[in-house]
Parts: sequence; structure tokens; C-alpha cells
Amino acid sequence: MQLLDRSKFPELKNDLILRAALGQPVERPPCWIMRQAGRYLPEYHKVKDGRDFFETCRDAEIASEITIQPVRRYAGLLDAAIIFSDILVIPQALGMRVEMLEGKGPHFPELIRTEEDMKKVLDYHTDVLKELDWAFRAITVTRHKLGGQVPLLGFCGGPWTLLVYMTEGGGSRLFRFAKQWLNESPELCHKLLQKITDVAVEFLAQQVVAGAQMLQVFESWGGELGPRDFDEFSLPYIRQISKRLPHRLKELGIEEQIPLTIFSKGSWYALDKLCDSGYNAVSLDWLWDPKDAVKVNAGRVTLQGNLDPGVIYGTDEVISKRVEEMITGFGGGKKQYIVNFGHGTHPFMDPEKIKFFLQECHRVGSKK
Ligand code: CP3
Repeated sequence: MQLLDRSKFPELKNDLILRAALGQPVERPPCWIMRQAGRYLPEYHKVKDGRDFFETCRDAEIASEITIQPVRRYAGLLDAAIIFSDILVIPQALGMRVEMLEGKGPHFPELIRTEEDMKKVLDYHTDVLKELDWAFRAITVTRHKLGGQVPLLGFCGGPWTLLVYMTEGGGSRLFRFAKQWLNESPELCHKLLQKITDVAVEFLAQQVVAGAQMLQVFESWGGELGPRDFDEFSLPYIRQISKRLPHRLKELGIEEQIPLTIFSKGSWYALDKLCDSGYNAVSLDWLWDPKDAVKVNAGRVTLQGNLDPGVIYGTDEVISKRVEEMITGFGGGKKQYIVNFGHGTHPFMDPEKIKFFLQECHRVGSKK
């Protein structure tokens, strides 16, 4: 079998999320959860078996198995799979070393701290197809293994969020280095953001060629910028991605419309602008009351979200109530809505509680 012949991909049996993202009516809202694969699942630890995180991402057999685990466990309850990888693979493709420390998170042995460091990254020539070939292989293998049960989502990090990781090394309380870069050397920051954006466009497009059926951009540190800086350092690049991607896909021979989602965590002030940024869907964190977000959106895009993941620690009664409020708040879920959390799962969550959450979403979302 020719693995990369796109005409040989299994036929899709559940296109609920694609239809919802494109604004078409659906029988019930499609469901998926950010970080639905990973540490809260015992089967993840079993397969990972102490291996290095990036090693598991780069092994197509392991990455595809981990991607499919939640789809298998929550059979019929999840309407999408998201490829098991990380947003930090773009900094890696820009020549930076990134390690994942067990129980600690990402670690960059060398950060962008001086102009020389910055110039080194800016001068680095990235051949996306070559540097990230393993990511494309993992997507192709996963698409075949999924057998058309649900669409496969690809993703990348937002340019500002990746700048944060490349200057800070990880999440931070003060964002001292990232903020120093923005305010001391904005021109160099714009050059870096542009470079990341160029790689992101090509990376997303090639994920589609490899088999991704929908895409999401994670601007996880969006909320660290105020509205003014968001307009200068995040939004223009987020917009560039949505504007350039369809052209690049066309050049690569992809004719169908690939739904694109933006998740900018914490940037509540930017919702109106994000609804006009060329994305099909905008993913919301739990800072939004669904009813208010629906009003601001005024039918422009599909909204995704936005349960506080912390609700999963609650009783069944609390989970049911919150699901009901969320889905009715988003208008009942038959149009322009995708169920998700407002951020990812936590490693401590009980998989049975997540199952109950998904069942409740199906129950409430299927009401006439
Ligand atoms: O199931 C999925 O959602 C697919 C895989 C996925 C991972 N990371 C796997 C992962 C996705 C979509 C991501 C995106 C990602 N990575 C984001 C954006 C979403 C968000 O949470 O805001 C960010 C900011 C990262 C960066 C990152 N990767 C951090 C901060 C950490 C460590 C802390 C943490 O929250 O897990 C990672 C590691 C990581 N990425 C793990 C997984 C399953 C844990 C690795 C392990 O210890 O096994």
C-alpha cells in the first residue's frame, strides 16, 4: 500500500466536527478535549513505558497508538482525534534544543537571551519537510489506523506563544525575558514572529498533505499580552496564518476546505477581532460566559469550549449541571458549536469522570 497516496485514506464515517466548524447544522454538538491523549490515561503510561516524550512523538507507531487511545476508550463519544505531538516542535525545527523533563515540563538548554542568540535562530534555514518529516509520517500512519472513525486534527503553536518558550524556556510567572524582548527590541521580535509564522504556515499545510483533516493554532500565552500588545505581537501573525494557509494548500493540490481553529487563552478582550480573523472556529477558555461570547460572535464563526477543566473534579451532579449550562449557553449545540474544555486535561483526572462528562454532552446535545 502506498502510505502517502491521499486517495487511499479510509472513508470518513463521522464528519460532525468538520460540518460544525464550517457552520453547517449538526444533529448534536461534536465533542473532543484538548490534551485528550496523555498522562491521565493509564494506557498512555503503559505504552510510553518511561520513554522520552519527544521520542514517543517521533515514533509513528507509538504516537499513532497514543493518539487513538482516547478514541478507543471513549468509543462513540469523541468526534475527533488530535495527533500526539507538541507545539514545541517548531522551535526544534528552528534549530533549538528542547527537552521534556519528567514531571517538570519543557526545558531549553540554550535560550534566546542575546542578539547573537536571536540572529542565530533568524539565520537558521528550516526545511520543514525534512526537519519535521517524522510528524508527517505519524499523521499519515494515524489517519490510516483511525480507519475513518473520526477526523484527525493537526496543530501548531501560535507565534507569540512560541516566542515565549524560546526566550523564557517554559511557562513563567513574570514573563520577564519575553516582555524585555518585546519592549527593548520589538523589531527583532517581529523578525522572529515572522520566521515562526512562515514555518507554521508550511508545517500546517504539510500536516494536511500528510492526512490532517482540521487544524488548530494554540496561542496559549495570548492572555499574557494586553489588548495593545496583542494587536501588535500576536494578532497580525495569527491572521497571516489563516490568510496564507488556503493559498499554500491550493499550491499543494488540496482543493477541499480545511477547517481552522484559533485558541488564544486568556485574550478575552480580543474575541471580536478573533471572530474576524479568517478562522472557522474560535476556541474559548472558561473566562467567557457562553451567552456573552455568542452575542459578541453574532454568527460569524463556530465557537468551541469552554468548560473549566476543574469541573471534572466535581460530583456527577455538578458535571451534569455545568454541561447543561454550557450547551444551552452556546445555543443548544445544533449549529456553530463544538464541545471542549477551556484548556487541557490535567494528569490527575479520573478517566471515568471524563467519560461521564462526554456522555452528558451527548445527552444534553441530542435534546430536540
Ligand atoms: O492530546 C493532545 O492534546 C495532543 C497532544 C498535545 C500535547 N501538547 C501533548 C503533551 C498537544 C496538542 C499539546 C500542545 C501544547 N504543548 C500546548 C498548547 C496547549 C496548552 O496546553 O496550552 C502547550 C503550551 C505545550 C507545551 C508543553 N508541552 C508543556 C507546557 C508541557 C508540560 C506540562 C504539561 O502541561 O503537560 C508539555 C508536555 C506534554 N505535551 C505532555 C503531553 C502529553 C506531557 C508529557 C509527559 O510528561 O508525558
